[in-house]
Amino acid sequence: MCGIFGIITNQDINIGSIALEAIRKLEYRGYDSCGMVSIENTDLQILKDSGKIDEIHEKLHFDTLNGSIALAHTRWATHGPPTKDNSHPHTDCTGEIAVVHNGIIENFIELKKELISKGHSFKSETDTEIVPHLIEEKLKEGYDFKEAVVEALKKCEGAYALSVCYAKEPNSIIVARKESPLIVGMEEGKTSYCASDIPALLQYTRNCFILEDNEMAILKAGEIEFFDIENSLKKITKQPKHINWDIDAAEKNGYEHFMLKEIFEEPDALRKTLKTSDEEIELFARKLIKADHIYITAAGTSFYASLAGKYIITRFLGKYIQEIECSEFQNKLTGALEKNTVIIAISQSGETVDTIEAIRWAKEVQKDITILAITNIIGSSITRYSDHSIITRAGPEIGVAATKTYVTQVLSLALIALKIAGLRKKLAPVELDKYYDALKSIPEIIEIFLKNNLESIKEIVQNLEKNANYFFLARGISIATAKEGGLKLKEVACRFIEGYSAAHAKHGPISLVREGFPIIFIAPPDKSYERLVGNVMEFKARGGHIISLVVDNDETISEMSDITIRIPQPSTKYYQYFSPITFIPALQLLAYYAALDHNLDPDKPLNLAKTVTVH
Ligand code: G6P
Repeated sequence: MCGIFGIITNQDINIGSIALEAIRKLEYRGYDSCGMVSIENTDLQILKDSGKIDEIHEKLHFDTLNGSIALAHTRWATHGPPTKDNSHPHTDCTGEIAVVHNGIIENFIELKKELISKGHSFKSETDTEIVPHLIEEKLKEGYDFKEAVVEALKKCEGAYALSVCYAKEPNSIIVARKESPLIVGMEEGKTSYCASDIPALLQYTRNCFILEDNEMAILKAGEIEFFDIENSLKKITKQPKHINWDIDAAEKNGYEHFMLKEIFEEPDALRKTLKTSDEEIELFARKLIKADHIYITAAGTSFYASLAGKYIITRFLGKYIQEIECSEFQNKLTGALEKNTVIIAISQSGETVDTIEAIRWAKEVQKDITILAITNIIGSSITRYSDHSIITRAGPEIGVAATKTYVTQVLSLALIALKIAGLRKKLAPVELDKYYDALKSIPEIIEIFLKNNLESIKEIVQNLEKNANYFFLARGISIATAKEGGLKLKEVACRFIEGYSAAHAKHGPISLVREGFPIIFIAPPDKSYERLVGNVMEFKARGGHIISLVVDNDETISEMSDITIRIPQPSTKYYQYFSPITFIPALQLLAYYAALDHNLDPDKPLNLAKTVTVH
C-alpha cells in the first residue's frame, strides 16, 4: 500500500535517477500513480501524475530533478482516485513543505475541517494532504521544523510512514513511523536514505535501521539521528540489521517478469529454508505441544499456507488447530481467548495490518498467550509483536502475487510438524527419516518440473476458453492447493474461480457445470484419492472439461481427464503431506501464462498491492 523513498546527499549524483530506480523497486506496493519532489535553490520542484512509473517518467523525466535532496512515492489509492492531484508528494499552502506518506490518517476529515476553518486550502482528496498543512500551522505557531512535525503528528490518528522535506531547511529530511513500515540506511558521510522496504536500499547499504512505532529520524547527508516521539523527543541509539539478500534477487535478471523468476527461485528458497535452525523449529514445536488452544491466522496466500500447514501439524500433534482469517480474528474470538493459547501468525511481508492487529489484540486481552510468527522479512512488525519468529529464506519477493514465499511458509510448517512427530514419538525414527528425506527432495522435484513443463503449460493455457470461469477442486490437504492455485489465477489473470472442496462442490457449485466448464482437480496419491475419483466422474458426467494435476505414474484420474499435468513426485506415503509444495508451481505457472494470454502484467495485478497496510 504505497511505497516511499527519500535521499539526501553531499555527493555529485543524480538524485532523480536514484529515486526513480528506488520507486521502481517499490512499485509492487502500489502502481496507480507516482511522484517526486526535490529542493532546488530553496524551491520545491514537484513532478507527479497518475499511471505507471515508466509511463510517467517518459512524460515528466524524473531524472531532470537535481539537487541534494529528494522524496519519492508510488501510490495505491485509498482516499481519492488515482489522479495527478491525489498523487504524492503533497504540499502545504506556502508550497514549502512536501510530504510522502504510506498509511492512513484516520481522523483526516475532522482535521481537514479544522484546517479549512483556519484558512488552509486543499488540492486533493487524500488524507495525507492534511500533514503538510498541519506542519505549516505548527511552524506558524513558532515551532522549529522538527518540533512542528512532532506537533503535527500528535494530532494524527492512524498509521503512517512518512517523509517530510522543507524548502527552508534543505539539509535534512524528517521521517517518522507508526504502524507502517519504514527503514533508513546510509553511506557514512555521504548519503542517507529512507524507504518502505529493503529492495530500495539494497544497492546502497546492507545495514538498515528499522524504525519502530513512534520513532522519528532526521536524515542529513550520510548521517542519521533517531528520536523517541513519545518520550519528549529523546535521542535514541539504534543498531542496524544486516541484510544478506543478494542484490540480484531484487532484479529481474533476464526474466520477463518477477513472477516467473520467483517461481524459478522456489527450489533455492526451499533449500535455504530447509536450513532453518533446528532450535527455532524445536521451540515452535514445543510451544505447540504444550498449548491447550491453538489458532493459526493470516491473510491471502499466507492464509492458504496456514490451511496446508495446520493439516500437516495436526496429524502429528493430535490437537485441533483452528484457522481464522486475520480480519475476523477479533470478531470470532472476543470473549473466547483462553489461557495457555498459542497463535501462529503468518505473513510474508510481516506488515499486513489485519494480521498485526489480530495478534496485538490477542496479547492485550489474554496475557497467557504465545504468538509465534512466520515471516519473510527480518525486523518486520509481526516479529516485534510476536514472542518468537521464524524467518523464511525466500529472499525478496517483488511480484505482487506471492509464489516463493508460499512454498517456504508451508515448508516451515512442515518442518515444525516433523519436529513434533519426533518429539512426540509419533513415528519410528526410520519412518521419520523417510519423511525428512521426502521433504529434502522437494527442491529437486520442483526443478525437474519447471525444466520440463513450461511449454506444455503455455499450450494448455492457449487452448483454454478465454472468458471461462473455473473450479479448482480437491479433497483433504489439497483443498489448500486448490484455493491457492485458484487465487493465483484470480489475482493475475482476473478470472473468476472457485477453489472448493470436491466433495462439498455437490452442494451448490456443481449446478454451474455445463459442457466445457473447466475444472481443475488437484489429485496427489494420498488418502483422498479414491473418493476424488468419484468426484471427477460426477463433474465429467455433466460435461466438465477436466484438467488434473497428478503424479507421474498416475493412471486412474489421468485417464478420466481431458488434460493432465504430471508432477515428478514419487507416489509413496512419505510425500502425502507435502503435495501443497510440489503441486503449487504448476498452478502458479498456469496463472502466469493465463495473465500473459490476457495481455495482463502478472507482476502488477489490477487493484492489488503486495503489502496491505489498510483494514
Ligand atoms: C496481499 C498480497 C498477497 C498476500 C496477502 C497477505 O493480498 O497481494 O500476495 O498473500 O496480501 O500478505 P502477507 O504479507 O500478510 O502474507
